[in-house]
Amino acid sequence: MAITAALSPLDINLAPPGGRASTTSSEVKKSGSSIQPRKQSDYHLIQKLTAKLTGSTLPSKTEPVPPIKSVPSAPSKTPVKKSSARPSKKILCSTPPVNLRNRKRGVEYDRGRQLGEGGFARCYLVQNKEGKLFAAKTVAKESLQSEKMQAKFFGEIQVQKTMVHPNIVRFVECFEDTRNIYLILELCPNKSLVEMLRRRQRMTEPETRLFMLQTLGALKYMHGKRVIHRDLKLGNIFLDEGMNIKIGDFGLAALLVSDTDRKTTMCGTPNYIAPEVLFGKKLGHSFEVDLWSCGVILYALLVGKPPFQASDINEIYKSVPKPPAAGMYLGAVAN
Ligand SMILES: Nc1ncnc2c1ncn2[C@@H]1O[C@H](COP(=O)(O)OP(=O)(O)O)[C@@H](O)[C@H]1O
Ligand SMILES: [Mg+2]
Repeated sequence: MAITAALSPLDINLAPPGGRASTTSSEVKKSGSSIQPRKQSDYHLIQKLTAKLTGSTLPSKTEPVPPIKSVPSAPSKTPVKKSSARPSKKILCSTPPVNLRNRKRGVEYDRGRQLGEGGFARCYLVQNKEGKLFAAKTVAKESLQSEKMQAKFFGEIQVQKTMVHPNIVRFVECFEDTRNIYLILELCPNKSLVEMLRRRQRMTEPETRLFMLQTLGALKYMHGKRVIHRDLKLGNIFLDEGMNIKIGDFGLAALLVSDTDRKTTMCGTPNYIAPEVLFGKKLGHSFEVDLWSCGVILYALLVGKPPFQASDINEIYKSVPKPPAAGMYLGAVAN
Protein backbone atom coordinates (compact mmCIF):
# COMPACT_ATOMS: atom_id res chain seq x y z
CA MET A 1 0.00 0.00 0.00
CA ALA A 2 1.22 3.47 -0.76
CA ILE A 3 2.71 4.90 2.37
CA THR A 4 1.12 8.31 1.87
CA ALA A 5 -2.29 6.89 0.96
CA ALA A 6 -3.71 8.07 4.26
CA LEU A 7 -2.61 11.62 3.62
CA SER A 8 -4.84 13.89 1.62
CA PRO A 9 -2.67 16.37 -0.25
CA LEU A 10 -3.25 19.94 0.74
CA ASP A 11 -3.03 22.59 -1.88
CA ILE A 12 -1.81 25.68 -0.10
CA ASN A 13 -0.72 28.85 -1.79
CA LEU A 14 2.17 30.29 0.12
CA ALA A 15 1.35 33.68 1.46
CA PRO A 16 4.13 36.25 1.36
CA PRO A 17 5.78 36.57 4.77
CA GLY A 18 3.64 38.96 6.71
CA GLY A 19 2.60 39.51 10.30
CA ARG A 20 6.05 40.48 11.37
CA ALA A 21 6.93 40.93 14.98
CA SER A 22 5.98 44.23 16.41
CA THR A 23 9.34 45.66 17.44
CA THR A 24 9.33 49.23 16.20
CA SER A 25 12.30 50.79 14.50
CA SER A 26 12.34 53.64 17.03
CA GLU A 27 12.56 51.08 19.84
CA VAL A 28 15.51 49.51 18.11
CA LYS A 29 17.21 52.80 17.37
CA LYS A 30 16.88 53.85 20.99
CA SER A 31 18.92 50.88 22.14
CA GLY A 32 21.82 52.22 20.08
CA SER A 33 23.12 48.79 19.06
CA SER A 34 24.11 48.09 15.53
CA ILE A 35 24.63 45.09 13.33
CA GLN A 36 28.07 44.00 12.28
CA PRO A 37 28.75 41.87 9.24
CA ARG A 38 31.42 39.33 10.13
CA LYS A 39 32.31 38.37 6.62
CA GLN A 40 31.76 39.95 3.24
CA SER A 41 29.38 37.10 2.36
CA ASP A 42 27.22 38.04 5.34
CA TYR A 43 26.83 41.54 4.11
CA HIS A 44 23.59 41.18 2.20
CA LEU A 45 21.98 39.13 4.98
CA ILE A 46 22.94 41.61 7.62
CA GLN A 47 21.84 44.47 5.44
CA LYS A 48 18.37 42.96 5.16
CA LEU A 49 18.20 42.40 8.89
CA THR A 50 19.45 45.89 9.60
CA ALA A 51 16.84 47.35 7.30
CA LYS A 52 14.19 45.34 9.13
CA LEU A 53 15.38 46.46 12.53
CA THR A 54 16.08 50.09 11.87
CA GLY A 55 14.23 50.93 8.70
CA SER A 56 17.55 51.78 7.04
CA THR A 57 20.46 49.99 5.43
CA LEU A 58 23.75 49.31 7.16
CA PRO A 59 24.93 52.27 9.18
CA SER A 60 28.24 53.70 8.10
CA LYS A 61 29.60 53.82 11.64
CA THR A 62 28.92 50.76 13.69
CA GLU A 63 29.98 49.72 17.13
CA PRO A 64 31.90 46.48 17.01
CA VAL A 65 30.39 43.53 18.78
CA PRO A 66 33.19 42.04 20.86
CA PRO A 67 33.96 38.59 19.54
CA ILE A 68 33.91 35.72 21.94
CA LYS A 69 35.95 32.60 21.54
CA SER A 70 33.36 29.90 21.83
CA VAL A 71 30.89 29.24 19.06
CA PRO A 72 27.89 26.90 19.21
CA SER A 73 29.46 23.51 19.46
CA ALA A 74 28.84 20.45 17.37
CA PRO A 75 28.12 18.00 20.22
CA SER A 76 24.63 17.12 21.36
CA LYS A 77 22.89 18.24 18.20
CA THR A 78 21.03 15.01 17.74
CA PRO A 79 17.60 14.82 19.29
CA VAL A 80 17.08 12.09 21.86
CA LYS A 81 13.91 10.14 22.10
CA LYS A 82 14.05 7.41 24.66
CA SER A 83 10.92 5.74 23.37
CA SER A 84 13.05 5.04 20.27
CA ALA A 85 10.59 6.49 17.78
CA ARG A 86 13.68 7.62 15.89
CA PRO A 87 16.05 4.85 14.81
CA SER A 88 19.40 4.69 16.57
CA LYS A 89 21.08 4.12 13.19
CA LYS A 90 20.66 7.11 10.91
CA ILE A 91 19.10 6.08 7.60
CA LEU A 92 19.02 9.03 5.24
CA CYS A 93 17.74 9.07 1.67
CA SER A 94 20.13 8.74 -1.25
CA THR A 95 20.07 11.56 -3.80
CA PRO A 96 16.52 11.67 -5.25
CA PRO A 97 15.81 11.78 -9.01
CA VAL A 98 16.20 15.12 -10.80
CA ASN A 99 12.48 15.19 -11.46
CA LEU A 100 10.02 14.70 -8.58
CA ARG A 101 6.40 14.05 -9.45
CA ASN A 102 3.21 14.10 -7.45
CA ARG A 103 1.32 11.71 -9.73
CA LYS A 104 -2.02 12.23 -8.04
CA ARG A 105 -2.01 15.96 -8.65
CA GLY A 106 0.15 15.98 -11.76
CA VAL A 107 2.58 18.44 -10.17
CA GLU A 108 6.27 18.23 -11.02
CA TYR A 109 9.38 19.67 -9.44
CA ASP A 110 12.97 19.88 -10.68
CA ARG A 111 15.34 18.90 -7.93
CA GLY A 112 18.30 21.12 -7.17
CA ARG A 113 21.08 21.11 -4.58
CA GLN A 114 20.88 19.76 -1.07
CA LEU A 115 19.91 22.46 1.44
CA GLY A 116 20.80 20.55 4.56
CA GLU A 117 20.32 17.39 6.54
CA GLY A 118 19.09 16.48 9.99
CA GLY A 119 19.00 13.26 11.98
CA PHE A 120 16.08 11.98 9.95
CA ALA A 121 15.83 13.74 6.60
CA ARG A 122 17.70 15.48 3.83
CA CYS A 123 16.30 18.62 2.35
CA TYR A 124 16.63 19.69 -1.30
CA LEU A 125 15.92 22.84 -3.24
CA VAL A 126 13.14 22.19 -5.77
CA GLN A 127 11.41 24.29 -8.40
CA ASN A 128 7.92 23.82 -9.84
CA LYS A 129 7.02 24.37 -13.47
CA GLU A 130 5.99 27.97 -12.73
CA GLY A 131 9.52 28.59 -11.50
CA LYS A 132 8.61 28.84 -7.82
CA LEU A 133 11.20 27.52 -5.37
CA PHE A 134 10.46 25.24 -2.41
CA ALA A 135 12.27 22.93 -0.01
CA ALA A 136 11.68 19.18 -0.33
CA LYS A 137 12.22 17.43 3.01
CA THR A 138 13.03 13.92 1.85
CA VAL A 139 12.65 10.89 4.09
CA ALA A 140 13.82 7.42 2.98
CA LYS A 141 11.06 4.82 3.24
CA GLU A 142 13.74 2.48 4.51
CA SER A 143 13.86 4.55 7.69
CA LEU A 144 10.11 4.07 8.21
CA GLN A 145 9.98 0.33 8.55
CA SER A 146 8.50 0.15 12.02
CA GLU A 147 4.88 1.13 12.58
CA LYS A 148 6.03 3.41 15.34
CA MET A 149 8.28 5.37 12.97
CA GLN A 150 5.51 5.61 10.39
CA ALA A 151 3.03 6.87 12.98
CA LYS A 152 5.60 9.36 14.17
CA PHE A 153 6.30 10.69 10.68
CA PHE A 154 2.61 10.91 9.81
CA GLY A 155 2.19 12.81 13.06
CA GLU A 156 4.86 15.27 11.89
CA ILE A 157 3.07 15.74 8.57
CA GLN A 158 -0.34 16.19 10.17
CA VAL A 159 0.97 18.78 12.61
CA GLN A 160 2.96 20.62 9.93
CA LYS A 161 -0.18 20.76 7.73
CA THR A 162 -2.21 22.52 10.39
CA MET A 163 0.41 25.19 11.13
CA VAL A 164 -0.45 28.38 9.27
CA HIS A 165 1.50 31.26 10.76
CA PRO A 166 3.93 33.81 9.29
CA ASN A 167 6.75 32.52 11.50
CA ILE A 168 6.21 28.80 10.95
CA VAL A 169 7.38 26.91 7.84
CA ARG A 170 4.35 26.35 5.58
CA PHE A 171 3.43 22.92 4.34
CA VAL A 172 2.65 22.74 0.62
CA GLU A 173 2.11 19.09 -0.26
CA CYS A 174 3.36 15.57 0.32
CA PHE A 175 3.92 12.67 -2.05
CA GLU A 176 6.11 9.63 -2.53
CA ASP A 177 8.03 7.58 -5.07
CA THR A 178 9.32 4.06 -4.64
CA ARG A 179 12.15 5.08 -2.31
CA ASN A 180 11.23 8.29 -0.53
CA ILE A 181 8.51 10.47 0.87
CA TYR A 182 8.73 14.17 -0.01
CA LEU A 183 7.34 17.00 2.06
CA ILE A 184 7.23 20.12 -0.06
CA LEU A 185 7.72 23.07 2.26
CA GLU A 186 8.08 26.80 2.09
CA LEU A 187 11.73 27.56 1.26
CA CYS A 188 13.88 29.22 3.91
CA PRO A 189 16.86 30.32 1.80
CA ASN A 190 18.86 31.87 4.65
CA LYS A 191 19.43 28.60 6.53
CA SER A 192 18.99 28.38 10.28
CA LEU A 193 20.03 30.33 13.36
CA VAL A 194 22.90 27.83 13.80
CA GLU A 195 24.62 29.05 10.64
CA MET A 196 23.78 32.65 11.46
CA LEU A 197 25.35 32.38 14.91
CA ARG A 198 28.34 30.44 13.61
CA ARG A 199 29.13 33.32 11.26
CA ARG A 200 28.37 36.11 13.68
CA GLN A 201 29.51 34.47 16.95
CA ARG A 202 26.77 36.34 18.76
CA MET A 203 23.81 38.55 17.97
CA THR A 204 23.09 42.05 19.17
CA GLU A 205 20.23 42.72 21.60
CA PRO A 206 17.95 44.33 18.96
CA GLU A 207 18.47 41.39 16.59
CA THR A 208 17.84 38.92 19.40
CA ARG A 209 14.73 40.82 20.47
CA LEU A 210 13.25 40.59 17.00
CA PHE A 211 14.11 36.89 16.64
CA MET A 212 12.61 36.13 20.05
CA LEU A 213 9.44 38.14 19.37
CA GLN A 214 8.83 36.21 16.18
CA THR A 215 9.65 32.87 17.81
CA LEU A 216 7.38 33.53 20.79
CA GLY A 217 4.56 34.71 18.51
CA ALA A 218 4.79 31.43 16.60
CA LEU A 219 4.87 29.49 19.87
CA LYS A 220 1.79 31.25 21.18
CA TYR A 221 -0.03 30.25 18.02
CA MET A 222 1.26 26.67 18.19
CA HIS A 223 0.35 26.23 21.85
CA GLY A 224 -3.07 27.71 21.13
CA LYS A 225 -3.57 24.71 18.87
CA ARG A 226 -2.35 22.45 21.70
CA VAL A 227 0.83 21.55 19.84
CA ILE A 228 4.14 21.31 21.75
CA HIS A 229 7.16 21.47 19.45
CA ARG A 230 9.57 19.72 21.89
CA ASP A 231 12.66 20.21 19.72
CA LEU A 232 13.05 23.96 19.55
CA LYS A 233 16.69 24.80 18.93
CA LEU A 234 18.83 27.04 16.76
CA GLY A 235 19.01 24.33 14.07
CA ASN A 236 15.22 24.05 13.76
CA ILE A 237 14.62 27.78 13.48
CA PHE A 238 15.03 28.78 9.86
CA LEU A 239 15.28 32.18 8.17
CA ASP A 240 13.26 33.18 5.11
CA GLU A 241 14.44 35.54 2.39
CA GLY A 242 13.46 38.56 4.49
CA MET A 243 15.36 37.17 7.52
CA ASN A 244 12.11 36.35 9.29
CA ILE A 245 12.02 33.44 11.71
CA LYS A 246 10.36 30.26 10.46
CA ILE A 247 10.03 27.46 12.99
CA GLY A 248 10.33 24.05 11.31
CA ASP A 249 10.93 20.35 11.97
CA PHE A 250 7.87 19.11 13.83
CA GLY A 251 9.39 15.62 14.09
CA LEU A 252 9.09 15.47 17.88
CA ALA A 253 5.92 17.56 18.20
CA ALA A 254 3.06 16.35 20.37
CA LEU A 255 -0.60 17.22 20.16
CA LEU A 256 -2.26 17.39 23.58
CA VAL A 257 -5.80 16.08 23.78
CA SER A 258 -6.70 18.65 26.45
CA ASP A 259 -5.04 21.58 28.22
CA THR A 260 -4.28 19.35 31.22
CA ASP A 261 -2.88 16.46 29.19
CA ARG A 262 0.80 15.67 30.01
CA LYS A 263 3.43 13.88 27.93
CA THR A 264 5.94 11.51 29.48
CA THR A 265 8.25 10.57 26.61
CA MET A 266 11.74 11.85 27.21
CA CYS A 267 12.66 13.68 24.05
CA GLY A 268 14.41 16.78 22.79
CA THR A 269 18.00 17.81 22.16
CA PRO A 270 20.30 17.60 25.22
CA ASN A 271 21.37 21.29 25.35
CA TYR A 272 17.77 22.44 25.15
CA ILE A 273 15.95 19.87 27.30
CA ALA A 274 13.73 21.19 30.10
CA PRO A 275 14.21 19.89 33.67
CA GLU A 276 10.72 18.43 33.82
CA VAL A 277 11.49 16.29 30.75
CA LEU A 278 14.69 15.03 32.36
CA PHE A 279 13.53 14.67 35.95
CA GLY A 280 9.74 14.86 35.96
CA LYS A 281 8.87 11.62 34.25
CA LYS A 282 6.02 10.85 36.68
CA LEU A 283 4.16 14.12 36.26
CA GLY A 284 5.09 14.52 32.63
CA HIS A 285 5.62 17.72 30.71
CA SER A 286 3.59 20.21 28.71
CA PHE A 287 3.86 23.52 26.82
CA GLU A 288 6.44 24.95 29.24
CA VAL A 289 9.21 22.77 27.77
CA ASP A 290 9.18 24.97 24.66
CA LEU A 291 9.62 28.07 26.81
CA TRP A 292 12.63 26.50 28.50
CA SER A 293 14.15 25.92 25.05
CA CYS A 294 13.40 29.55 24.18
CA GLY A 295 15.41 30.61 27.23
CA VAL A 296 18.32 28.49 26.02
CA ILE A 297 18.00 30.00 22.53
CA LEU A 298 17.90 33.54 23.95
CA TYR A 299 21.05 32.86 25.97
CA ALA A 300 22.82 31.24 23.01
CA LEU A 301 22.01 34.14 20.68
CA LEU A 302 23.37 36.75 23.09
CA VAL A 303 26.31 34.84 24.55
CA GLY A 304 27.30 32.71 21.57
CA LYS A 305 26.93 29.28 23.16
CA PRO A 306 24.15 27.41 24.94
CA PRO A 307 24.10 27.65 28.75
CA PHE A 308 24.31 23.90 29.30
CA GLN A 309 27.09 22.51 27.20
CA ALA A 310 29.62 19.68 27.48
CA SER A 311 31.06 17.00 25.22
CA ASP A 312 29.42 14.31 27.35
CA ILE A 313 25.61 14.26 27.33
CA ASN A 314 25.47 13.14 30.96
CA GLU A 315 27.52 16.18 31.95
CA ILE A 316 24.95 18.39 30.21
CA TYR A 317 22.13 16.69 32.08
CA LYS A 318 24.00 17.13 35.37
CA SER A 319 24.28 20.86 34.76
CA VAL A 320 20.55 21.33 34.10
CA PRO A 321 18.99 22.44 37.42
CA LYS A 322 16.68 19.89 38.99
CA PRO A 323 13.14 21.08 39.65
CA PRO A 324 12.55 21.41 43.43
CA ALA A 325 10.98 18.30 44.95
CA ALA A 326 7.59 19.92 45.46
CA GLY A 327 7.95 21.23 41.96
CA MET A 328 8.63 24.76 40.84
CA TYR A 329 7.65 23.40 37.44
CA LEU A 330 5.43 20.56 38.54
CA GLY A 331 3.76 21.92 41.66
CA ALA A 332 0.82 23.47 39.88
CA VAL A 333 0.03 20.16 38.27
CA ALA A 334 0.63 18.11 41.41
CA ASN A 335 -1.76 20.22 43.51
N1 LIG B 1 11.97 24.80 4.74
C1 LIG B 1 13.28 24.68 4.62
N2 LIG B 1 14.00 25.52 3.85
C2 LIG B 1 15.34 25.40 3.72
N3 LIG B 1 16.07 24.43 4.32
C3 LIG B 1 15.41 23.56 5.11
C4 LIG B 1 14.00 23.63 5.30
N4 LIG B 1 13.63 22.63 6.13
C5 LIG B 1 14.76 21.97 6.44
N5 LIG B 1 15.84 22.51 5.83
C6 LIG B 1 17.24 22.04 5.92
O1 LIG B 1 17.26 20.64 6.10
C7 LIG B 1 17.82 20.29 7.37
C8 LIG B 1 17.05 19.13 7.96
O2 LIG B 1 15.67 19.47 8.12
P1 LIG B 1 14.88 19.08 9.44
O3 LIG B 1 13.43 19.37 9.19
O4 LIG B 1 15.48 19.75 10.62
O5 LIG B 1 15.12 17.51 9.45
P2 LIG B 1 15.30 16.46 10.65
O6 LIG B 1 13.90 16.03 11.00
O7 LIG B 1 16.12 15.36 10.04
O8 LIG B 1 16.03 17.16 11.77
C9 LIG B 1 17.74 21.57 8.18
O9 LIG B 1 18.73 21.62 9.18
C10 LIG B 1 17.94 22.64 7.12
O10 LIG B 1 19.33 22.77 6.80
MG1 LIG C 1 15.95 19.13 12.59
